[in-house]
Amino acid sequence: MDVLVTGGTGRLGQRLTAPLQAAGHTVRQMSRRGTGPGGVRGDLATGFDLTSALGGAEAVVHAASDPRGDPWQVDVAGTRRLVEAVDRSRMRHLVYVSIVGVDRIPYGYYRAKFAAEQVLLASGLPVTLVRVTQFHDFVDTLLDTARRGPVLPVPMGWQVQPVDVGEVAAHLAEVVGRPPAGGVVEYGGPEALSAADLARAWAGVRAPGAHVVVTPVPGKLGAAFRDGAALPTGGERGRRTYGEHLRG
Ligand SMILES: NC(=O)c1ccc[n+]([C@@H]2O[C@H](COP(=O)([O-])OP(=O)(O)OC[C@H]3O[C@@H](n4cnc5c(N)ncnc54)[C@H](OP(=O)(O)O)[C@@H]3O)[C@@H](O)[C@H]2O)c1
Repeated sequence: MDVLVTGGTGRLGQRLTAPLQAAGHTVRQMSRRGTGPGGVRGDLATGFDLTSALGGAEAVVHAASDPRGDPWQVDVAGTRRLVEAVDRSRMRHLVYVSIVGVDRIPYGYYRAKFAAEQVLLASGLPVTLVRVTQFHDFVDTLLDTARRGPVLPVPMGWQVQPVDVGEVAAHLAEVVGRPPAGGVVEYGGPEALSAADLARAWAGVRAPGAHVVVTPVPGKLGAAFRDGAALPTGGERGRRTYGEHLRG
């Protein structure tokens, strides 16, 4: 199929081209600047160049997102613009990359992702919504950002099940070739871990000497992560552990 990857310059998007091509697809990857191999321009926030980017596409892996900017404009309204720009006579499968727990965790970005899911479910397009857990390298970034000199504060009791981004990309390339699920499926890493376990493993390899300080997080957000709302309840699993990721 002719597959358009949105968010092609992102952490996940960059990894999607190789497994999609290996599965026999032709791949174009969309971002605002249209850089990189097979790069085309398209801006979900304005709709600029979206129709030409989607022209001829038989499948879309929708991995663009703007968590640090305006996710209501890019993820929600942008997904609506994407749906409107799709050539319905050609579209065979639209795969959306969501996050495990977007329906249960009271966090603004997750609410926007959940709203984007609803846009797709109401679109009448052949969709699969793949809710994925946190990528290993995203966990690395979060921990690196959280560290204050020798102190690494982490939320008490939070449970996560991170996954290798390369395995996510390989899984999505398979999902594209399957019949659309018409709803939500989940994909996560091989093991549920506490934030403190992750932080100790990360510090051991990336920041020797850093001291993990477990901190209670009050409120509904903290309670949701402690109750396991970020853990997948079904679906397939990656095999690579966070420890293996850290050891390279
Ligand atoms: N990170 C995680 O741990 C994780 C876990 C589960 C699910 N997910 C989901 O997986 C997807 C990919 O995550 P990621 O970490 O790879 O994201 P990322 O590295 O932040 O990449 C975001 C991508 O979106 C594009 N983008 C941003 N604003 C845009 C706009 N207005 N128009 C068009 N493209 C735009 C960016 O392209 P330019 O800036 O180059 O235009 C970039 O390619 C997201 O939907 C995220 O919610 C992520």
